[in-house]
Amino acid sequence: MEDRILIADDEKTICSVLSQRLTREGYSCVTAHNGKEALTRFYQGNFSLVISDIRMPEVDGLELLKSVKAVRPTMMFILMTAFPEIDIAVEAIHLGVSDFLIKPFDLELAVFSVKKALEQKKMEEEIESYHKNLKRMVEERTVELQHAYRTLKKAYLDSVKVLAEAIDAKDPYLRGHSDRVRRMSLRIAVSLGFSEERMEILEYGSLLHDIGKIGIQDEILRKPGPLSPDEYQTIQEHPLIGVKIVEGIEFFKDKIPMIRNHHEHFNGEGYPDGLAGEGIPLEARIIAVPDAFDAMASLRPHRGTMALEDILLEMEKYKGKQFDPKLLEIFLQEKIYQS
Ligand SMILES: [Fe+2]
Repeated sequence: MEDRILIADDEKTICSVLSQRLTREGYSCVTAHNGKEALTRFYQGNFSLVISDIRMPEVDGLELLKSVKAVRPTMMFILMTAFPEIDIAVEAIHLGVSDFLIKPFDLELAVFSVKKALEQKKMEEEIESYHKNLKRMVEERTVELQHAYRTLKKAYLDSVKVLAEAIDAKDPYLRGHSDRVRRMSLRIAVSLGFSEERMEILEYGSLLHDIGKIGIQDEILRKPGPLSPDEYQTIQEHPLIGVKIVEGIEFFKDKIPMIRNHHEHFNGEGYPDGLAGEGIPLEARIIAVPDAFDAMASLRPHRGTMALEDILLEMEKYKGKQFDPKLLEIFLQEKIYQS
């Protein structure tokens, strides 16, 4: 589409000479003989450039420039004047004028000035559309990446759940144990106001806390009766076996404290490190509570099932000994064992 140029000057000769010359260059020109008329024409038409005299009756060139820029800040604007004054020039530059033509001017110079201004406009428009395009592409790509990330995370969680089921399957009396420990641990963490990021680490850590059981013989894990001291000692090796299995894998790095320390006791009498109180990583202290609850609630051939109130009384007995008292309190008060 050809560029439309609005020419405003109270000297009609200048208007028509300029208009004729620019029409020969392929532009479509509209003329106005004062500022007010120019403004009306400007609002009516879709122009690429305004060429205006400064001194005009009613609305002068600077006023016109101001009004045009208020509506279309990117509009190209060339001012013509027979009386170059520095303060007017400075004001016009501040208002965003593209060029000045000092009268009397060579028509070729005017053509050159027009072409330069329109080229600049085209370049500015291209840059703007490039930026818009880039922004849209970045937004689209971000949505795609977020979607891929969510899918990947879900797939990761699903495969970790399968792994957790495989761990639980080694002990038929603990079917679904890891997932229940995960659910209850997360509820305690909600009560503690964990961040989303910390919740996620806890989610994986609680699912995998017993991963070391993969390295314990099935006969010991599945033994229906009470364990001999030797067998009990073997079972106690599972946290460190778990660490050995996952260490060196970046993804598991922040889950190691849960795998290693979920059998520590608050009074320091647990294993494998004999840590006490807040020296035990918080996530491991959290897991310890539902882990013990779920183990007691599971059916054991040598002792049958325990009644819920007996389990809760038993846990209460170990408050501050095996369990972090604050966390046990949350577990009992909020009836997290029901989840
Ligand atoms: Fe364990």
